[in-house]
Amino acid sequence: MSHIFPPSLIETLQSARRVVVLTGAGISAESGIPTFREAQTGLWAKYDPMTLATPQAFRQNPRLVWEWYAWRRKLVSQARPNPGHYALVEMANHLPHFTLITQNVDNLHQIAGSSYVLELHGNIARSKCFAENVVISSWPETDELPPRCPHCGGLLRPDVVWFGESLPSEPLDGAFAAASTADLFFTIGTSGLVQPAASLPLLARQVGAILIEINPQTTPLTDQMDYHLSGPAGEILPQLVAAAWPPKG
Ligand code: APR
Repeated sequence: MSHIFPPSLIETLQSARRVVVLTGAGISAESGIPTFREAQTGLWAKYDPMTLATPQAFRQNPRLVWEWYAWRRKLVSQARPNPGHYALVEMANHLPHFTLITQNVDNLHQIAGSSYVLELHGNIARSKCFAENVVISSWPETDELPPRCPHCGGLLRPDVVWFGESLPSEPLDGAFAAASTADLFFTIGTSGLVQPAASLPLLARQVGAILIEINPQTTPLTDQMDYHLSGPAGEILPQLVAAAWPPKG
């Protein structure tokens, strides 16, 4: 489907100097990765992700949580970036300052070619020790699930942020610093329900940034937006980039 953009939006994009993009699960939906809040299918249909992605769930049933993440890790490893991810790589090439912040743990921005990504919620490909909170990149082969930390014998867990946990400070500080100096802020494919990520566009707004949301649905953030572009990111983003910077020749 072909989208028509307001001329004011295209002009804003062309003249922007400090652009910040916050992405959520929606940008990877077209890569075949189910978003967090949609019903799961198959083997895991009876589980609510909200009840698996917590330290309490892991303490109670570490094997179940590890296996759920192993399933998601497999889905992620088979997924490819979609035109939305690639359009953000292209957008960055046209702008003096560009910061990409993601809540996704799937690595698809990096695979698409985005060179610097602030990962607020970790990365599913990595594991860490539940006891010591340090990343562990290899451990002896074992049938035991979850495997154990080769240093302390504690259980290994995915290096993702669970509900109730704090976010890694380095990307979080970078995200707040970028939002507080943004002149244009995109919120793409996120339900805007999870803090502190959801407060980033509001911070940008306070410093005078123009806010744009790309999402087929409205969200609790929509009312704050200057522009809401309704539709899939994989369709809208490439068209928006082509409208702002038409391909030569
Ligand atoms: N293009 C753009 N947006 C889309 C698309 C698409 N093709 N498909 C779905 N969406 C939108 C949905 O309308 C919804 O608003 O993406 C959003 C996905 O919302 P969530 O599943 O809640 O994902 P997200 O906002 O990233 O969740 C935040 O919460 O579950 C935790 O830690 C997890 O990082 C996650 C965080």
